[in-house]
Amino acid sequence: MALITWSNKYSVGVQNMDKQHTVLFDILNELHESMMKGQAQSVAGKLLRKLTDYTRTHFSAEEAMMAAANFPGLGEHRLKHQNLIKQVSDYAARLEKGDISLYTQLLTFVRDWLGSHIQKEDKEYGVWMNEHGIH
Ligand SMILES: [Fe+2]
Ligand SMILES: [Fe+2]
Repeated sequence: MALITWSNKYSVGVQNMDKQHTVLFDILNELHESMMKGQAQSVAGKLLRKLTDYTRTHFSAEEAMMAAANFPGLGEHRLKHQNLIKQVSDYAARLEKGDISLYTQLLTFVRDWLGSHIQKEDKEYGVWMNEHGIH
């Protein structure tokens, strides 16, 4: 079973960002699946890097879009992004030392963080973008 499934409740009203969020969910599910199959050691490291890389790409895209549209909440939003990256990096550092049991914690943490961030902070820029003709 998928760890997180994209549905309309996650739509932020900006197509490109919805698409990127589904990619993030896909990578999370891939990581979850590999863990379930007991492949954490062999493939999870690579997938975790894929997740952090794509998360950075996505956050940069969002921040560039908010900046271009003069979204007033950009500063605060960027701090939230930086905080998540910091926490995931901390997990990654601990995982590299071999504590693979942390994967479960990491996955739950990222799933919950993303789910609530998209529905709260990302939807806030969504309203602004829509008001400024970006969909
Ligand atoms: Fe986002
Ligand atoms: Fe965001």
